[in-house]
Amino acid sequence: MESSEIRKRFLKFFEERGHTLIPSASLVPEGDVTTLFTGSGMQPLIKYLLGEKHPKGVRLVNSQKSFRAEDIDEVGDNRHTTFFEMLGNWSLGDYFKQEQLPWFFEFLTEEIGLDPNKLYVTVFAGDPENNVPRDMESVEIWKRLFKEKGIEAKDVELITEKNASELGMQGGRIFYYSTKNWWSRAGAPAQMPPHEPGGPDSEVFFEFTDARHDEKFGKYCHPNCDCGHFMEIGNSVFMEYIKKEDGTFENLAQQNVDFGGGLERITAASRNDPDMFNIDLLKPLISVLPTADTDQRRKCIIVDHARASFFLISDGVRPSNKHQGYILRRLLRRMIVQAHLGSFGSFAGTDTLSTGAAEDIKAVFRKISEVYQGIYPLNLNLANEVFTDEFNRFNRVFRDGLREIKRLEKIDAVTAFKLYESFGITYEIIKDVAGAKAETLTRNAFDKEFEKHQEISRAGIEKKFGGHGLVLDTGELKAGSKEELKIVTRLHTATHLLNAALHKVLGDSVEQRGSDITAERTRFDFLFPRKLTADEIRKIEDWVNYAIDKNFPVAFEEMPLDEAKRSGALFFYKGHYPERVKVYTVGNADEVFSRELCGGPHVAHTGEIGPFKIEKEESSSAGVRRIRAALSS
Ligand code: SER
Repeated sequence: MESSEIRKRFLKFFEERGHTLIPSASLVPEGDVTTLFTGSGMQPLIKYLLGEKHPKGVRLVNSQKSFRAEDIDEVGDNRHTTFFEMLGNWSLGDYFKQEQLPWFFEFLTEEIGLDPNKLYVTVFAGDPENNVPRDMESVEIWKRLFKEKGIEAKDVELITEKNASELGMQGGRIFYYSTKNWWSRAGAPAQMPPHEPGGPDSEVFFEFTDARHDEKFGKYCHPNCDCGHFMEIGNSVFMEYIKKEDGTFENLAQQNVDFGGGLERITAASRNDPDMFNIDLLKPLISVLPTADTDQRRKCIIVDHARASFFLISDGVRPSNKHQGYILRRLLRRMIVQAHLGSFGSFAGTDTLSTGAAEDIKAVFRKISEVYQGIYPLNLNLANEVFTDEFNRFNRVFRDGLREIKRLEKIDAVTAFKLYESFGITYEIIKDVAGAKAETLTRNAFDKEFEKHQEISRAGIEKKFGGHGLVLDTGELKAGSKEELKIVTRLHTATHLLNAALHKVLGDSVEQRGSDITAERTRFDFLFPRKLTADEIRKIEDWVNYAIDKNFPVAFEEMPLDEAKRSGALFFYKGHYPERVKVYTVGNADEVFSRELCGGPHVAHTGEIGPFKIEKEESSSAGVRRIRAALSS
């Protein structure tokens, strides 16, 4: 079956069961400071899983564009991609396990026609430490469902992910895993921050009987083995817990279902072919690349990166050195290098990037716009423009970078970062072209080096000044225009004043959770358990305007991080600050109004900010409030 047919059938199947179709959200999350990209269908729905009423009701279905940068190193085999489509259905406090598991099973076996003998399932083993029980209800449901198909489904106690490859299948069909069968945006129960929702999940795996187990991945195969014999095709999350401040779990106000299944993977299963790059969404893209190049891994990388880039560009991302833009730059540059290698094999005889490589990528872009025609609005001219611009920019520095790589004897994290900083040669490219010289270089070491060089404001969530492509960091200012930069700077200082005013009016339990500043407004998220009263909002606004009227000077001091934290200055607890930081003070000899760790930029005197107005106060997620405020001139 083709992906378009599977997508259509999935949506229809759940619409017939009372679900309302909702559109795919952008790959760049709206109003979610915890993550750079939309990596699953549930991310845009968090607040509804927590209890807010969704305007479309309690049963939703969609196909969501998703991007997972963390999978970038896996790309190149026959089943990993950074971009994918996730089919999803949700119950917002409506149905639960008894409906979800039978429906998904029916969809797979009746609608798609998968052989139930090739399906294996996993369930949550329980977490006694955190008081979350083993999911026996799901086990009973699965046993019944398989029995109806004439299959005796035995459950096997592998308990830890570690044991599994030593014990193997043991004739089982239902397997218990611990952290692998728990879903939250932050991962396992222990990794979740307070106020994060999560729950046990049950995954379905498809067995590719022809793909033999590879002992490289462990002695015996099992559903979660990475050898490719099994592939996960769907995950039903029973989102019913939330982590408390003290680290234990309590029940959410409602029991939710969050199902997600990779469209490309389900399509591969329906074809009984483990190579996902043979499906209708990917094979045509592979086929426009030069046939003379027989390196399939390379082709998978180019095709994956081209598709991901195209979708990111369409959702407004542009190459840069920060945040989403940095990821896009890495995808674009790496595929350029890979396409060049596809034509020339190496950089031995040349040190400029071939325009043929650029043409190959444009051919893939063209194919992508054909393949997704009528499904997602993609702008081919825009993608080509952004790509060409980046190609030219990269080509200008590449020659010197390559020369440097040739000159170096060994490339460790420090030299690798220098190559990136001076020549825009990214980690992946170094690994791709430097061969043995970069053998010991790891992503972890590179990322650490990268972080070390980021200014304080990049590290905290303060770093993310959304909208309009405005990214402001100390030492490097980027803005749509000088005018916009000025407004954002005024709003940035106003945000410090707002943070201080919140502490004055609501007390010190207020804790910053995020901020996002555009030329139109500032948005500030903070921990506080209830809605603010009109009187509190007025008082907070008055405090900010008081500080503005006072025309306080804004000054900073640099000091060691420990000392800054001890000084009582406000800081964002999730921020990874460098060892030396700046502490910005707003105030004079008589009165210190605000002290906060930050990278700037700020106005010199608060009078420059102008009148400040809180426009909205609302819930952002459980226990987190959000204020939007703007300047009147
Ligand atoms: N949130 C779950 C996942 O990403 C199911 O949608 O797997």
